[in-house]
Amino acid sequence: MSVYYTRQTLTIAIDTAKAVNKTIGFVPTMGALHEGHLALVKKALSEVDVVVVSIFVNPTQFNNEEDLEKYPRMLMSDVAFLEKIGNVLIFAPDYNDVYPQNDSFENIELNGIDKILEGEYRPGHFQGVMHVVRNLFQIVQPNKAYFGLKDFQQVAIIKKMVDFLKLPIDIVACPTLREKSGIAMSSRNLRLKNDQKAEALIIFNTLNYLKELKLKFNPEEAERLAIEYFNRGNLKLEYLELVDSNTLQKLNNYWAKDSTCCIAALCGDVRLIDNIQL
Ligand code: PAF
Repeated sequence: MSVYYTRQTLTIAIDTAKAVNKTIGFVPTMGALHEGHLALVKKALSEVDVVVVSIFVNPTQFNNEEDLEKYPRMLMSDVAFLEKIGNVLIFAPDYNDVYPQNDSFENIELNGIDKILEGEYRPGHFQGVMHVVRNLFQIVQPNKAYFGLKDFQQVAIIKKMVDFLKLPIDIVACPTLREKSGIAMSSRNLRLKNDQKAEALIIFNTLNYLKELKLKFNPEEAERLAIEYFNRGNLKLEYLELVDSNTLQKLNNYWAKDSTCCIAALCGDVRLIDNIQL
């Protein structure tokens, strides 16, 4: 398994692969890898010749200093974890390689979809995500990039950015992987104690309950009843919203052809997000 710590060394490896027409797949991560990440890497391995996995905790997407500090960092065990599934190029750059001095990033117009849901609770978050992903794309030059649908809004925003910048990259959205209990796999789960993991199940249960509610109620009613149900648990709700899966616009009286419920909540001081397609 090769670990590249600099942009320069990774570029040489990528140029060598491209010179013999190999296709490049890219899985950007912030490390603390779990089976959900592995599923993205496996999918990439099945579709392209060379897979690059970046491990970089991106400061520009955190709007909370403590959250950034507490984000788990475990490069060596991440490398060992990836070793289990095949040969990938691991890119573990430092800040200056990702954000060089002459770097600039112009605001990308997203018609407000970066200001709702996550964007409302984490101002600036998506500009930080787009900035880092754009910069990583410039380094890795992938044909395909793989993202997990647990970050449903992030996937929609990356797709818009790729269209806006006319990047020749195919964005592959992959389903959320869940632990046996049902909670969505997330690097943040590492910070949950066992009793908190049990409490966090209210998220999954509420999302499932919404499937039943959809059969009987309009979105506004279903949302209200789901919030009521969620609040019987111990987590602190940030938002639970029903949106059109394609436009991310809030649903009121009518269900969309594809509707999604997005949820964010605090379990102790750990912020969890999840969603379900209804
Ligand atoms: O989803 C993540 O882990 C991050 O937002 C990403 C895409 C790696 C950018 O830092």
